[in-house]
Amino acid sequence: MGVAPIHLQIATQLGERTGPAIAAVIGAMAADGSLVVGDQLPTVRALASELGVSPSTVSEAWRILRDRGVIETDRRRGTRIRRTASTDGGRYWHVPVEPGTLALDLSTGTPDPALLPALATALSQLQVDLGASSYLDEPVVPELSAVLRKQWPFPPEALTVVNGAQDAIDRLIGAVVRFGDRVVVEDPTCPPLLDLLDLAGATVIGVKIDDAGMCPLALADALRDEPVAIFLQPRAHNPTGVSLSVDRADAVANLVAGTSTLVVEDDHSGAVAGADLHSIGTRLPHQCVHIRSFSKSHGPDLRLAAVGGSAAPIDALVRRRQLGPSWTSRLLQRVLLDLLGDKRVQHGVADAERAYAERRTNLISALQERGIEIPTTGSGLNLWVPVRDERDAVVALAAQGIGVAPGSPFKVHDPDHHHVRVTISALPADVSELADALARANQPFGRRTTGV
Ligand SMILES: Cc1ncc(COP(=O)(O)O)c(C=O)c1O
Repeated sequence: MGVAPIHLQIATQLGERTGPAIAAVIGAMAADGSLVVGDQLPTVRALASELGVSPSTVSEAWRILRDRGVIETDRRRGTRIRRTASTDGGRYWHVPVEPGTLALDLSTGTPDPALLPALATALSQLQVDLGASSYLDEPVVPELSAVLRKQWPFPPEALTVVNGAQDAIDRLIGAVVRFGDRVVVEDPTCPPLLDLLDLAGATVIGVKIDDAGMCPLALADALRDEPVAIFLQPRAHNPTGVSLSVDRADAVANLVAGTSTLVVEDDHSGAVAGADLHSIGTRLPHQCVHIRSFSKSHGPDLRLAAVGGSAAPIDALVRRRQLGPSWTSRLLQRVLLDLLGDKRVQHGVADAERAYAERRTNLISALQERGIEIPTTGSGLNLWVPVRDERDAVVALAAQGIGVAPGSPFKVHDPDHHHVRVTISALPADVSELADALARANQPFGRRTTGV
């Protein structure tokens, strides 16, 4: 028995008869394998008449799918499937080397375990009635909610706790981004964000950044496309280390004010960011959701981040989560509450922040001595190091037992310049060998020395 013609398959899956809904159905069919590269789609007129919609509705769907790179139209061959969506987190899994196989793995972006608070102590001190937790309790432990609200950069309309910043981003995308929506991100940015937006069927607009954050002219241009959201990292930007300056936070807020675009701030390094926080939420509290992760400061295995700000997206996240895990372990929330109130832990976290800053400065100085200029204004766990050729650099460094992350998975636009991301959290005290290797990877082709 044959497969139903494409227009019938679309018709049976279609709910609302709008352009974005038609685009979403075809996008989903391309993602689940019902449509493959080269498959011919009906003409605009034929599909419009089959679905009982106007040709302009189908044209709108075609525009969304073309923007997303899913279809292409050519006068002779008509409209065909050009690309099926990736469903496996294509950038994130672009891991160049097997984890754990290198003597010095600086590719991970993770904190130094030696600089995290000892969770065993907090766990052994945990005073909690283990039988008391109920499905009906508040999703956030009330005492933790009070502490977080006090520390929040602006009074949040709503606040909840989720399983880390990445979980927050995933759930917020689920709450606010629909197939074909435009979403602004920093270029470069964190690869999993790009993967998640890809999976949601968003059209990603990359806005370049300088040493103070998103460039206002490029952002103004991007806002003309009426994006539903802007995802940005307010400090210790991964991969570049950039933090939003006061003036730039003002400029971004002024551009976004009066639009319907939501700002999502990912403060992924939180208390060890090594830079002050200038939140868009203090300027636009109703249009901003702020994420604060505790992974880098208190431990990635706590899997805890708080999300606070504009009520509509956070309420939508909480309602949707109710159909899944419902809440984030209150046992772990109590451990975090304990850690946040413990003076020794507070001092330890401040020491860790200083240690990361020292390691970062140490490598920047060593690179500077070898002719590689990296802005000293940055902070956080990663350095964005220019190299002559990204692939060459990753392979040559791996041959010396050094792991670094290739730069291209972080980039929205095709890179003119090549980079690698070097995580500074596990740097040895003597960085001369590493700096030498990075300097060799940075040399132009003509000046390459032989040997090592
Ligand atoms: C920009 C960015 N967002 C989110 C995360 C993930 O944070 P979490 O461990 O809280 O999920 C990371 C991790 O390095 C990150 O760099």
